[in-house]
Amino acid sequence: MIRLLLVPGCVLACLVGCASPAQEAALPARAPQIIPLPNRVAWSAGVFALGPATRIVATGGEEAIWAAHWLADLLRRTRHFDLRVADPSSLPSSGVILLELGTAQGSTAPEGYRLEVSPERIVVSANDAAGLFYGAVTLWQLATANLDERAPAPAVSIPALTIDDAPRFHWRGLMLDPARHFVPPASVKRMIDWMALHKLNVLHWHLSDDQGWRIEIDAYPRLTEVGAWRVPAGPAAAAEIDPETGEPRRYGGYYTKAEVREIVAYAAKRHVTIVPEIEMPGHAQAALAAYPELGTGEAPPGVSADWGVHTWLFGVDDATFEALETILGEVLELFPGEYMHVGGDEAVKTRWQESPAVQARMRELGIPDETALQSWFVKRIERFLTAHGRKLIGWDEILEGGIAPRATVMSWRGVDGALEAAALGHDTVLAPSPTLYFDHRQSELASEPPGRDAVIPLEDVYRFRPMPDGLAPDQRHHVLGIQANLWSEHIRTPERLAYMAFPRAAALAEIAWSMPARLDWPSFVQRLARQFERYRALGLTFATSAFDLRPSARRRADGSIAVQLANQSGAGEIRYTTDGSPVTPAAKRYAGTLELAGDTELAARTYLDGRPVSRELRNTASRLADRRASQELDVCSRRVVLALEDDAPREGPRSVFLTDILNPCWTWHDAELSGVNGIKAAVGQVPFNFQFGGERPDVTLAAPDNPQGELEVRAAGCDGDVVAVLPLTPAVRSQGVTVLSAPLAQRANGSADLCLRFRAPGYDPLWVLDWVELERAGPAAAMP
Ligand code: ACM
Repeated sequence: MIRLLLVPGCVLACLVGCASPAQEAALPARAPQIIPLPNRVAWSAGVFALGPATRIVATGGEEAIWAAHWLADLLRRTRHFDLRVADPSSLPSSGVILLELGTAQGSTAPEGYRLEVSPERIVVSANDAAGLFYGAVTLWQLATANLDERAPAPAVSIPALTIDDAPRFHWRGLMLDPARHFVPPASVKRMIDWMALHKLNVLHWHLSDDQGWRIEIDAYPRLTEVGAWRVPAGPAAAAEIDPETGEPRRYGGYYTKAEVREIVAYAAKRHVTIVPEIEMPGHAQAALAAYPELGTGEAPPGVSADWGVHTWLFGVDDATFEALETILGEVLELFPGEYMHVGGDEAVKTRWQESPAVQARMRELGIPDETALQSWFVKRIERFLTAHGRKLIGWDEILEGGIAPRATVMSWRGVDGALEAAALGHDTVLAPSPTLYFDHRQSELASEPPGRDAVIPLEDVYRFRPMPDGLAPDQRHHVLGIQANLWSEHIRTPERLAYMAFPRAAALAEIAWSMPARLDWPSFVQRLARQFERYRALGLTFATSAFDLRPSARRRADGSIAVQLANQSGAGEIRYTTDGSPVTPAAKRYAGTLELAGDTELAARTYLDGRPVSRELRNTASRLADRRASQELDVCSRRVVLALEDDAPREGPRSVFLTDILNPCWTWHDAELSGVNGIKAAVGQVPFNFQFGGERPDVTLAAPDNPQGELEVRAAGCDGDVVAVLPLTPAVRSQGVTVLSAPLAQRANGSADLCLRFRAPGYDPLWVLDWVELERAGPAAAMP
């Protein structure tokens, strides 16, 4: 995913508020600094000077007034202007922003708006409140197109223009998964705010799963008393004793009904509809830990602390349906939206197959197999939802065995589910894995937080096409829109959630809102630099992975080190220093391979349009050449590759390890071994808390020579000679990372593919590599 930095830095730069006329004339095209890009923009002459004296006037009712205050608040937070929301009766003739609801001058499409900027005033008009709100978002973006001014400007010049805009799709969603890691109410609200600023409008709230039940249900209080809490996996968590109970501290939480009502109302003000999800018949372990009688016999051992596909299913007797309908009834009371998501995914049927009661029920109903039974289950739930005036949506497994008559399909196993649903005359939402699974890493860099492998760069999200090619023209109306999913097994904190979401959610927003002909990756990248400044002003944590620098360093025979720098997107320009000083836009521009002495401190950063858009890379040349993090090595196989976070220490930073959990083995291709006399490796151990639908994991792990295991290093690949062995004994008792070292068995000349592989007595704990380093200096005694 690394591309060379050949793109000129400032193709579409300086569009709003910073361009001199001469620069403007040279621009090939003018895109306003807005994400998602509006569908029609006509520029005219002059500017509107927005400053502290500008007034906002709203007409058309409460929702317009609310939008006016919300706009004023945004401008206060990001531009430090305190604009007054004035009474329409005293409408000034100039210096006014007018928000008019119910008087659309332009598009009358749902959620559409017109925004007209003239030197005298700005008018946002829309037929519906969502449209007016989105017009206000667009205006706020025009007013924050240039936030990098050193001192607060007395006024912002907004160029005169007319925008006519409306969304391509009406389902522009993000899914939050508070089941795996709880998302506190305040963080859910912040996510809603950020969604609204991207014109995203559906929050799919995954409220139940094997690892937690997250919504208060009056009729079934144990769902939260029991189902909302788990003891995390592994010895580090087991050793953390809660002084109140004397037991290991439990992890969890849930939303009270009052909190849910508040969040639903909060979202509605921001034109975000919440679609709640209660999983059935699978992903039910937390519910069944609370009420085992709703299952098929045996009680689960507790709320799961494992990730993966579990086996616990709801039963199919009438009492279970009555319970599920009571629960859904309470959920529907809280959520006024049209859709209820009932899951339906990954329901391994073994427990139904093994249950005499379930088998008897199937015979009684004349149902031939368990897939048909799940279809019958979902149809029964759909009848309940229909009777309550709601629509059922489920993951694409609800197609199997026959789809319920009115169901909408959320296509996650690629887009095939969407194609099938549309061909059958059903609506569908595209949320395909892996492209729209935002729990995937955004780059190969070691600086990425944990997540699933298969890197999903920003550009891949941007280039995803929401209308699958295989769809006949008369089926296209069935595509309601698109959604990205933030599964949270590996997303432990709200900051990480934001990091995984943004800016990929900005790309999602643009492909969901803007017409295909408007989409243009270079233009999006340029606009992103300004969007990053808005994120900073709002305190939003976001990923700079598309611009972060990936160094590639190689030792030469004379001891010097050749360093090349690139970033994932190939955009922007790289500036660097080699004297320890900070990198600034005026620092030297990177133009090709750097030849550095080993002790040189290299610092570098990507700038776009003069704005910093990456983290700072800072390291010594020798460390760049001689050390590799696990993320910078090749895994030997890609069966289940994850970037896992250490489960210790309790406070402070934890390491992240990239590994195939079924084969802990890495290759360092073409490692320069001349002059190397030893190998140092930082190793960790994490709980093996994964389930595979009731199957035993098929782990590739060789028996060790040392009783507690070792990290074995071979040269010339994994079948080559053993060149070092690092026994794990010193690391066994450490819950964090331990640095081990060993001499190289023999001096080598030249380079070789190093294979690093754990040999251990068992696969739990799972041994993982943090980094490995080649040692070149050291006491002679260390030599063999
Ligand atoms: C899913 O990812 N199991 C919907």
